[in-house]
Amino acid sequence: MKLNVAVLPGDGIGPEIVEQALKVTNAICARFGHELITKTGLVGAVAIDETGNPYPEETHQLCMDSDAVLFGAIGHPRFDNDPSAKVRPEQGLLAMRKKLGLYANIRPTITFPSLLDMSPLRRDRIEGADFVAIRELTGGIYFGQPQGRSEDGNTAYDTSIYTREEIERILKLAFEFAMQRRKKLTIVDKANVLATSRLWRTISQEMAPKYPEVEVEYMFVDNAAMQIIQWPKRFDVMVTENMFGDILTDEASVISGSLGLLPSASMGVHTSVFEPIHGSYPQAAGKNIANPCATILSAAMMFEYAFKLQDEAALITEAVNASIEAKAVSEDLAGEGGKALSTDEVGDWIVEYIRKK
Ligand code: IPM
Ligand code: MN
Repeated sequence: MKLNVAVLPGDGIGPEIVEQALKVTNAICARFGHELITKTGLVGAVAIDETGNPYPEETHQLCMDSDAVLFGAIGHPRFDNDPSAKVRPEQGLLAMRKKLGLYANIRPTITFPSLLDMSPLRRDRIEGADFVAIRELTGGIYFGQPQGRSEDGNTAYDTSIYTREEIERILKLAFEFAMQRRKKLTIVDKANVLATSRLWRTISQEMAPKYPEVEVEYMFVDNAAMQIIQWPKRFDVMVTENMFGDILTDEASVISGSLGLLPSASMGVHTSVFEPIHGSYPQAAGKNIANPCATILSAAMMFEYAFKLQDEAALITEAVNASIEAKAVSEDLAGEGGKALSTDEVGDWIVEYIRKK
């Protein structure tokens, strides 16, 4: 199969971790006989520096022409401490989501047997936790208009808007995910306060009879924040709006023990984007110490969701698991006194595993 992948390394540790994911992708293609065609584009702070635009038109075209996008990270501290900056790297990410129609962000929460004791949560609570959070990504308060400040500058406003169409398509995806898994769907909202949440409930109640095998539960977001930490094993598929999903998925990452391991997929109308959830980690940029596994596992999600190549995805996941079991890990997972491999040594270990398999 021909795999057309747009590669957007972005900022911070993005380039070094994406390089490892590409090595692994190449090894998989060699082993399974696929042809990988990659084109690289600018995004984030590096794109601002070179073009003045955090998501240049050229990059957008590259993504539109691709079957999948492998994305590193964006963000630079020089913008974080300057609220008056007119152009920000994050705008590039939001523009990319909107223009590519990336309406569903999928973040799996899984645990790794050898890392159970790295989570601040008790082993018996998290062992076996396995759920998928599906976050709506192109609507809600992130994009609603009007947004801004009053003329005197003393009042500011954001608007949360959801249309039936937006809600239906994300819920459809969530029901389908539940059907493929343990058939339990938790719809997280704030229907006791918000009109948008009540529309989500109306529509989900209309849709539920089409999926009689799926057990649906509704949960207020404040309660969900508590349940995720207290009883993570009770969840199978969780679906929620943009901002609630942003917050809950960061919270859920604590269950896995390391942010450096968590991949994500953003499913779109035009193409899909695969990226680690950890961000640009500027303190580690260029030092060859960051954990590449989240990006490598994002490449596994790319094989699974964009190319529907399950065996390829499974082998990547197996190789990452094997590296963790063998303690061939970067410093975030090495533990006190443990030997830490560099970013590219972890990549090499995983490539070698795939080659020998
Ligand atoms: C994420 C990030 C982004 C978001 C930021 C960088 C705009 O936190 O992907 O979760 O809030 O969506
Ligand atoms: Mn976030």
